[in-house]
Amino acid sequence: MKNYEWFDAARFGMFIHWGVYSMAARYTWVKSHEKMTDEEYDRYVRHFEPDLFQPKVWASLARRAGMRYVVFTSKHHDGFCMFDSKYTDYKYKQKDLLREVIEAFRAEGMRIGVYYSLPDWHHPGYPHDKRHPQRDIPGVGNAALYREYLHNQVREILTNYGKIDLMWFDGSYPETGYIWDMPRLSAMVRELQEDILISRLPGYEDFSTPEQTIPQQGLFNADGTPQHWEGCQVLHGEWCYIRDKHWKTVPELIQMLVRHTSRGGNLLLNVGPTSRGALDAHTVSLLNGLGDWMEWNGRAIHNCCGAPAEFPEPEGCRYTWNAAKKTLYCHFFCWPDRRIDLPNLAGKVDYAQLLCDGSEILFKENLDGNINGPAVPPVGSLRLALPVSSPENCPVPVIELFMKE
Ligand code: GLC
Repeated sequence: MKNYEWFDAARFGMFIHWGVYSMAARYTWVKSHEKMTDEEYDRYVRHFEPDLFQPKVWASLARRAGMRYVVFTSKHHDGFCMFDSKYTDYKYKQKDLLREVIEAFRAEGMRIGVYYSLPDWHHPGYPHDKRHPQRDIPGVGNAALYREYLHNQVREILTNYGKIDLMWFDGSYPETGYIWDMPRLSAMVRELQEDILISRLPGYEDFSTPEQTIPQQGLFNADGTPQHWEGCQVLHGEWCYIRDKHWKTVPELIQMLVRHTSRGGNLLLNVGPTSRGALDAHTVSLLNGLGDWMEWNGRAIHNCCGAPAEFPEPEGCRYTWNAAKKTLYCHFFCWPDRRIDLPNLAGKVDYAQLLCDGSEILFKENLDGNINGPAVPPVGSLRLALPVSSPENCPVPVIELFMKE
């Protein structure tokens, strides 16, 4: 039995891209983009000194933002390990960074996910494929050698750190898929951690992971049943810390979270700590902004999914739905004038309130067309009477509609 229960209820997780590439502060793929040799890239390895590394601070910010799980980069494509592997010296040697991250997030009650890159631009067995920094120099590598290394490291991660809830592989392309031996790799993962969810191992993954895009209508299997999915998104245009960036805003991020939940998906929102291990002030303020909103509106996200199809969303709004509590949440991306008509909800709602302050929202309903007058709601719809201006300090206001039994 795959453990989707926590995953679907969580809806919001923190992705952390952190490694020696954070020092370049240009892009995660700096070694490949700039075709750096190992010797050139080594300046980062030599000078990496995360003296401000405080995973407890990351974890408490994530918790307060309403996040329920973390996915941490144990090794990115550059091959540098942020965990203590006995199979390589190409790692941070002073402490086991992965262990400290896991312990800090676990202490906050969060589920634990580990990102592990399948490609490795440092291991001599890894072929010079078209994304490799040394792609201009032929190199077929030694797939068997690298495969053993990769399997050994994944075994370490899934053996040495207690319960891991999610294994997030990355970087499998059709032309490199032969390297990993996916049937054996996935079997080992499930054997070592029986409840685990696997991501991005083509053919063996448990959910889909759209990246920097949000499916308009959610994701469905061929038979029409909804898929489990998780969109991974960035705060600015890159995964790792970069110095020059254009940020998304708190209202955009809240809307992003609602757009995932309302289509039955999770948002894995990325942060990129600085090379010294700190979250920069702007990231902290965005997380706090999300936390402020989640504190008052979190119940419209956690344990929620999209609304039943019989309730189409009014323009400018997204619905989320708590099926166990039969409660519908209407999220306003722009605030309407005075009133809004919600199709097909006449006769179905017991009570309505603004979620942020729990204040009553009065409504009228037109059940069968027998109300007369110039301004009646369309037949079948429920008309909410709204305050003239949207609630203060609430970038995305939510109205909570308790349905009749
Ligand atoms: C893409 C990027 C990779 C990043 C990943 C996160 O695959 O190439 O660098 O880690 O997205 O989802």
